[in-house]
This record gives sequence, structure tokens and C-alpha cells, in this order.
Amino acid sequence: MNSAIIAGTGIYEIPGFEFEKKQVETPYGPALVNIGRKDGFDLVFLGRHGLDHTTPPHKINFRANIKALQILGVKRVLVTNAVGSINREIPPMGLALLTDFLDFTNGRSFSFYDGEKSGLTHTNMDVPYCPAMSRKILELAPTFNLQIRSHAVYVATNGPRFETPAEIRMYDRLGGDVVGMTGVPEVVLARELNIHYAAVAYSINWAAGLEENMEFVSGKMSEIRQRLASLLVRTLQELESLDCSCEKALMVMHPPEA
Ligand code: HPA
Repeated sequence: MNSAIIAGTGIYEIPGFEFEKKQVETPYGPALVNIGRKDGFDLVFLGRHGLDHTTPPHKINFRANIKALQILGVKRVLVTNAVGSINREIPPMGLALLTDFLDFTNGRSFSFYDGEKSGLTHTNMDVPYCPAMSRKILELAPTFNLQIRSHAVYVATNGPRFETPAEIRMYDRLGGDVVGMTGVPEVVLARELNIHYAAVAYSINWAAGLEENMEFVSGKMSEIRQRLASLLVRTLQELESLDCSCEKALMVMHPPEA
């Protein structure tokens, strides 16, 4: 099982696929995944918040989720992130490929390499999101009548509360384009396991303080989200060998004990 999609708020199914639920046991706890097949193509589908949306961002077991994908043999993951817009060029309903991030989360388990028996690695984050998979997403987007901005800096906050206007002004000055609660440490953990990972953000609101009232357009986006999910499936189906350095990112100082 080579390919997976991790979906955020609002995407709870993939058009054309029927899934079977499976609980995968990992050293970090169980992970609930969905396994499906369409036209001979196998796909693992994982809803970050659980498919009934009951897990808050700060309680997501990111390590169990990513480890479960590795146990199932997944090498390529495409994800979606619901976000708020900081940059005026990415308005609500807009889509953007993530190319970098700023991490403001705290208290999360952000590494598989936790010292001693679990080893120690410094992970290169020069290019955090797989550029080869990202290019393919952009190439295929017009086929699904989707416009996707080619680059965006994702600000990861801890949630579950939204930000204050002052925080958003700070993130803006630091170069953040969109803000969400779940993109980190997921992207880092995938890199630690040599799993290629690319992400498309879809904006459901202006971030705090940008408009008088925070309004959410999620309800109006279901058709776009469906096309986005179909685009990600097609991307995974059409990808061949990947021209990138994702699997050369680990500087292992001390390997984990088996
Ligand atoms: N802030 C943080 N996370 C979010 C937002 C936001 O405005 N919108 C969707 N996810």
C-alpha cells in the first residue's frame, strides 16, 4: 500500500472509493485508518480528527498516525489542511500549496527520535514539503478546474482556540500566509520516516482581525473539496519516480535500537 491521503476538517470521504476501517497498532498507540481500492489502485485514507471529527488538534496522535502509514507500507502522502487566511492573496475559498511553515505549537510529541533507545536524528527541513509531488499537483490542478497558489507559508498554532488579532499581525510580519492547527508536527514526522509528504491548504475564513467578523465558508466549499480530493488521488496515481531529496534528510547521530 504505497499511497495515502490525510484529510482535515470537511473532507470525510474520497469520491469513488469505498473504505474499510482498520485499526493499526503502533508503539505510540492505535491509529484508525481506512483502506480502499478503486480501479486497481490502493489508497489509505486517514481523517486527522477521526472521521466523526471528535479529536481536537492538540490531542491528535500524530506519531501513531504516521507510524501506522509506515507499517502499511505507505511512501507517499498527500494532505489537505483547512486554514485561515493571513495573506490577502489567498482569500477564503482559495487553495494554496504549502512550501514552508512556522511552528508555534507546544506540548506535542514532535519526533520519533526521542533519545536513548529511540535514537537521535537532526532532520533537514530546507524543503519541508516534497517538491516532486507538489509539482505534479500543480500540473494536474487545471484538469480538475482548480486554481492553486504555488506557494504558502503555513503557521501552525496549537488550538483549539483561534488566534487573537495581535497574534495574526505578528504572524503576518513573520511571513506567514495561512494559519492552521494540524500541519505540524505531521510534516516533520513523515520526513523522519522517509515518507514523501505534500500539502494543499484550503482557506475557510479570514484570520482573526482581518475582517470585522470571522465568517466561515466551509459549508460553501464542499464541491471544491471533492474536486481537491479527486485531484490528490489522480496525483498519487500518476506519480512515477520522485525527483527530490526527501529521503536524504536525516542526519542520524544515534540510530534507534531495534
Ligand atoms: N486559525 C487557525 N486554524 C484554522 C483557522 C484559523 O483562522 N481556520 C481554519 N483553521
